Amino acid sequence: MKVAVVGLGYVGTVTAACVAANGHDVRGVDVDAAKVDEIRAGRSPVAEPGLDELVAQAVTGGTLHATTSCIDALDEADMSLVCVGTPSTVRGGTDLSYVRRAVDDIVAALRIVTPPASGQHSVVIRSTVPPGTVEDLVTPALTSGLAGTGISLGAAMCPEFLREGTGIADFFASPFVVVGTSDPRVAEAVTNLLGFLGQPVRVVDIRIAEALKYTCNAFHATKVSFANEVSRLLRLVGVDSREVMSLFCEDNVLNISPAYLRPGFAFGGSCLPKDLRSLLHLARMNGADLPLLASTLATNALVISEVVDRVVASDARAVALLGLSFKMNTDDLRESPNVELAERLIGKGFDVHIFDPVVNPARLVGANRRHVESKLPHLGRLLAHEPSEALRGADVAIVSSSDRAVLDALLTGRPRHLIDLSGRLGSEVESLPGYEGLGW
Ligand SMILES: NC(=O)c1ccc[n+]([C@@H]2O[C@H](COP(=O)([O-])OP(=O)(O)OC[C@H]3O[C@@H](n4cnc5c(N)ncnc54)[C@H](O)[C@@H]3O)[C@@H](O)[C@H]2O)c1
Repeated sequence: MKVAVVGLGYVGTVTAACVAANGHDVRGVDVDAAKVDEIRAGRSPVAEPGLDELVAQAVTGGTLHATTSCIDALDEADMSLVCVGTPSTVRGGTDLSYVRRAVDDIVAALRIVTPPASGQHSVVIRSTVPPGTVEDLVTPALTSGLAGTGISLGAAMCPEFLREGTGIADFFASPFVVVGTSDPRVAEAVTNLLGFLGQPVRVVDIRIAEALKYTCNAFHATKVSFANEVSRLLRLVGVDSREVMSLFCEDNVLNISPAYLRPGFAFGGSCLPKDLRSLLHLARMNGADLPLLASTLATNALVISEVVDRVVASDARAVALLGLSFKMNTDDLRESPNVELAERLIGKGFDVHIFDPVVNPARLVGANRRHVESKLPHLGRLLAHEPSEALRGADVAIVSSSDRAVLDALLTGRPRHLIDLSGRLGSEVESLPGYEGLGW
């Protein structure tokens, strides 16, 4: 394929060299003549292990050229890969002016160059851009700029996951190859371009592809800060955090795994809130600030508030709460966010009826009983024996149990409004009118 790579920084040069090394005809373009000169001389304009060699090989082999002219780069090109910078604005937003300028340059060039033999040009954004950028900025610029030219065009987001310092290795072994597009021809073109990676190309909604990169980077940043906060505290209490974290990472079931990474309801129960508070108290006693860990309690409280706000914003008066304990298959109500939710809704005057397949107030003992009595003293009166009983007359069902009896009652009772806190109710219930998930 004939490919123009717009922007020859870290991402652009690695992309251009790797794609050219695999037989595609690549023309890199940059507004910075010094970078273009470097590539023409067979050197990488950015320091990256192995990149000089790859650039030299591709330039000598005639598959990689560089230019400052978008027109030269776009001549007969099947695809443009936009790799320009997206720095922060002074207020922390994303400066999309380089993307806008690059797309305008592509549009201007496409109006005058020889069209590709394939008859189709795809504009693929590799820069990290906020969700909505392709639909709100790129596609309108292409559509309006090329209206009436007869050029067949499509746009996509194909995020890059390389890390500087291991850029080439990462390019060839990306965690995933994701293309966000609504145009099957663009999906096919990217699949053909990157076929040499030998990886499946995941075609997704454009905004998913745009959001994925930010989500990955936010998680990576959170991981670094988590390890550093643990270390900040443990050092003060004489514990070797490297050994703790090394053991921590051996747990691939709960720690380094997809566990706890499904968007859903708040955490709770007898351990997580209590132990987090203990850790934060220990930090305070030792003069350590743990802002990341402290803010997890605040963000958890927000999850409960958001559900309360949704119910308040609806025209509901009667609420069925299906599931009361902090997770399925236990009757432990200590610090259950569902108990907190029930208390808040009752406090706001809602008529709340509760069903939980496991909780039996007559069998609650000890701290569990004391906790629920302090929060919901009339639990016995609020508890229904069957889910259908709780649902009777309810305007809204808030569901955190995917127990079969609950699902059947929802399918029969068909509440007007259903808020799914579990994300596990299954397609039958999720397709009911009035269904609403949390975070999806
Ligand atoms: N650096 C990384 O490790 C990395 C990894 C993944 C994704 N990203 C994302 O990729 C994008 C590029 O990052 P980078 O580090 O390669 O940036 P960079 O600043 O190193 O390179 C951007 C290049 O684009 C050029 N440019 C700007 N406007 C242009 C135009 N209109 N036409 C042609 N060239 C133009 C600049 O001169 C510069 O050489 C950013 O959105 C970044 O967030 C970066």
